[in-house]
Amino acid sequence: MPLTAPGATPFTPATMQFVRGQFAYLERDPHGTRRLFFENSGGSLRLREASERALEISHYPDGSSRPHKVARELARIQDQGEADLLAFFGGDSSGALLPTATASQAMFTVVRAVAENVAGTNIVTTAIEHPSSYDACARYAHRTGRELRVAQPDRTTGGVAPGAIAGLVDSSTSLVSVIATSNISGAITDIPAVVKAVRDKNPDVHVIVDAVQYAPHGVIDAEAWEVDAVSIAPYKMFGDRGHAFTYLSNRLARLDHDRVAGAGVGTWETGSSAPAVFAGFTAIMDYLVAVGGTAVGTDRRAGIVAGMHAIQSHEQAILRTLIDGTEQRTGLRDMPGVHVHFADQAMSSPRDLIVPLTFDLRSCADAVRAYEELGVIVYERVATSHYSERILRSLGLEEVVRVSPLHCHTLEEAEHFLTATEKVAQHATG
Ligand SMILES: Cc1ncc(COP(=O)(O)O)c(C=O)c1O
Repeated sequence: MPLTAPGATPFTPATMQFVRGQFAYLERDPHGTRRLFFENSGGSLRLREASERALEISHYPDGSSRPHKVARELARIQDQGEADLLAFFGGDSSGALLPTATASQAMFTVVRAVAENVAGTNIVTTAIEHPSSYDACARYAHRTGRELRVAQPDRTTGGVAPGAIAGLVDSSTSLVSVIATSNISGAITDIPAVVKAVRDKNPDVHVIVDAVQYAPHGVIDAEAWEVDAVSIAPYKMFGDRGHAFTYLSNRLARLDHDRVAGAGVGTWETGSSAPAVFAGFTAIMDYLVAVGGTAVGTDRRAGIVAGMHAIQSHEQAILRTLIDGTEQRTGLRDMPGVHVHFADQAMSSPRDLIVPLTFDLRSCADAVRAYEELGVIVYERVATSHYSERILRSLGLEEVVRVSPLHCHTLEEAEHFLTATEKVAQHATG
């Protein structure tokens, strides 16, 4: 059945052309070989401008804390980057930013601060968390003598229902850690509903959100969500590897944490800052504003939100093409020998552009190699990896091929993927 729900409108041809012009290695890999890169959940296609601006700024030897003219220029670049981060997070200016090298580092830092400083006897998380947050919760629950409670996912949606999380919360819960979009099933958690359900049971509970996979696909609204921390990693959202950012609410920012003695209580940055990474982030925000097409002078947050909405709508059109197909191509849902997991729910419950597949005639690892021979890059998530085991098994799966296109792809490329999948599905292993 074709999908007709609103919010699945592809870009106009002019926007599509603009978008495709901004990305590096979109049609060919760095060695010139034609390929379709549908592995964006592992690290996304990159905006040329984001890397180039960061490189330009990283050539400056100056430190942004110095008083001379060029140093002040760097300080302004950092200020703009911080303002852009706040606008992207939808954060309150009384909150704080935690820059780290990876989102995993940030999770361990934030979970530790709550576990060590907020009264309570238990911490609640979910079975579909990435190891960065799950293992941080397990580690600091153990070190602080708290009980770790783990909400199980709904195997039909691939996500965790707010009630399953709230069911584990009581007046002694200090922390709830929840993923915004599953990096394996693609299910989107209804964060406002989770926050309401858990705070109905315990108004003081701290809620932290891993938005690493959600950030390239949807609008974050930290203040409206009333959460205490949200983490993102620019390398999953069109930027460079090597840095991550986490927004902290005012009350979380004031918890005791590692910092040099001279830094203010709400400062989470330790050591010298790197203006180049802020320049790269501002370039990503400039791009989102351009995609949104709002009038010059529109408030920065409104421009960013408009860009994300346009991206989300185009991505939903790609998702529907993949699952339901077109007049010319059978969709994954009806393709013999192919199983697209959580497909029915993809259309009735929110789902990002991440599609888990299995095959009757091939293992997932074998399918991934077959795709590569056809010029398509995807990735297998298997239960033999610590990064996937708990998540897959909680969903009743042993392995999947994860298919993760990006908004810079066209509906024609989605059809091309369907053609490749028919070939992959038809051949037996060996
Ligand atoms: C959902 C999710 N959270 C956190 C991370 C960790 O990010 P990083 O590699 O920056 O530590 C990842 C990385 O794959 C992820 O997919």
